[in-house]
Amino acid sequence: MTALLDVHRISKRFGGLMALNEVTFKVGTDEVIGLIGPNGAGKTTCFNVVSGNTSPTSGRISFDGQNIVGLKPSRIVRMGLSRTYQATSVFPDSTVLENVMRGAFTRSEDSLFGSIIGSPASGTARNKERAACMEILEQVGIAHVHDHLAGSLPYGYQRRLGVAIAFASRPKLIMMDEPAAGLNPEESQAMGALIRAMHESERASVLIVEHDMRLVMDICHRIIVLDHGELIAAGSPDEIRNNPKVIEAYLGTELVT
Ligand SMILES: Nc1ncnc2c1ncn2[C@@H]1O[C@H](COP(=O)(O)OP(=O)(O)OP(=O)(O)O)[C@@H](O)[C@H]1O
Ligand SMILES: [Mg+2]
Repeated sequence: MTALLDVHRISKRFGGLMALNEVTFKVGTDEVIGLIGPNGAGKTTCFNVVSGNTSPTSGRISFDGQNIVGLKPSRIVRMGLSRTYQATSVFPDSTVLENVMRGAFTRSEDSLFGSIIGSPASGTARNKERAACMEILEQVGIAHVHDHLAGSLPYGYQRRLGVAIAFASRPKLIMMDEPAAGLNPEESQAMGALIRAMHESERASVLIVEHDMRLVMDICHRIIVLDHGELIAAGSPDEIRNNPKVIEAYLGTELVT
């Protein structure tokens, strides 16, 4: 398998704490991979290191065959690696459609974004991009509120908007940090179906951190498990569900399988 994302022995130290300890894994083209583990396991830190928000203490990371350690987050996004954040991260005072257009232009230069969103010019490019973004809003089921302010949307819609923003940059790989956080079981299941559908229609690989085990088991081809900064297991949903190390790591927490 030629890896799209190749993470090799990355460590991240915060003072005396090894938040990540020699973690190695790969994500291939057209895969949906789950990254799970109890609270504080190092999942978000892993995303921060891969997306360039923080640098690893040691280790190598390549994306699409190129080293990405030391590159700025904006550069990494332009290479086709996009992410969402654990908390909703929409621009509340912009409309839903403007939010998605910002997402679309994170892969181009800021000046281009400014010229298209900010000024009345650039007719054709603007209309084309607008149509593409409306299509993404249709896919995530919130096109009917495209002209509402993002901050005024119900929470479930804001989470869907987050997915739309991340896919708008046409990424090769999208990393999602707890896309179903705060959703009820029904909404969470719908979110899983949405992510799977977006993966299939946009042909992007997905690396997903999520505590909702049902969602993870439903949509992931493979799952990797972190505990106290260490990768303790990797395998199919069935292998992970029955892995004694995983069951032990989750002991006392709610691993619902
Ligand atoms: N900037 C930081 N400075 C110091 N320690 C940090 C920092 N960021 C994270 N940590 C610590 O690193 C460990 C891993 O945190 P991380 O946020 O990656 O966990 P997580 O797996 O995402 O957990 P959760 O499921 O609760 O979101 C925790 O012990 C956390 O307190
Ligand atoms: Mg986290």
